[in-house]
Amino acid sequence: MTRPKPVFSAAGEAAQKFPFNPPSRLSGPLMSAAIRQALASDVDGLVALEHAVFTAERLSRRSFRRLVASPSARVLVAVDRDRIAGCAIVLFRAGSRSARLYSIAVAPGMAGAGTGRALLAAVLAAAAERDCTELRLEVREDNPRAIALYELNGFVPRGRRPDYYADGATAIIYACPIAGTADETRLEARDAGTGERTPQ
Ligand SMILES: CC(C)(COP(=O)(O)OP(=O)(O)OC[C@H]1O[C@@H](n2cnc3c(N)ncnc32)[C@H](O)[C@@H]1OP(=O)(O)O)[C@@H](O)C(=O)NCCC(=O)NCCS
Repeated sequence: MTRPKPVFSAAGEAAQKFPFNPPSRLSGPLMSAAIRQALASDVDGLVALEHAVFTAERLSRRSFRRLVASPSARVLVAVDRDRIAGCAIVLFRAGSRSARLYSIAVAPGMAGAGTGRALLAAVLAAAAERDCTELRLEVREDNPRAIALYELNGFVPRGRRPDYYADGATAIIYACPIAGTADETRLEARDAGTGERTPQ
């Protein structure tokens, strides 16, 4: 994932609970986990997760505070027994229908339990809610675990950016089309003859 500076909007947005049920295939530690939108009170847990997962280019406490409050971002947390087991951050830009997965991280002790996959599904749902038509991301070429997660969940490579990261590593750009946006739903309803017709 990249860590460029996100664009924040000045106005804050009250955090809302994000309803999401992980896929039923999941078993093990995630069975008791839930995914919801992060609250200001989650910032300590988010900082702890960031330190447990990343060794470089970590997001600061200040960045988390701003991201959690920003209307142009959505921070989702996977919570397992009152502890933050994972986090995903998606960024939105005014006038763009392309959302961007800015970061995804799962606590080392929770790896392989389906948390990353569930977070990804929740991110796609959040982007669809905003009428986005695709979710894009960059990932280090030498991160096979993250690449497998993306490719198994509908992301296709769109290009490479050599020397993208501070240490010179190459980024692969991935994108996932988002089905079920409001526009598509309207078109499907129209095609089925049940929805409101758009003016000709
Ligand atoms: C990458 C990362 C988020 C994955 O999280 P995770 O919770 O371990 O991922 P999941 O358990 O949901 O998925 C991984 C496993 O499920 C499998 N899987 C995921 N989606 C699947 C699907 N749709 N169908 C079948 N299998 C799937 C994967 O192959 C993998 O299997 P394995 O454990 O046998 O290797 C986590 O490893 C992490 O935090 N890494 C460090 C931070 C990082 O690199 N983030 C990404 C760049 S910022």
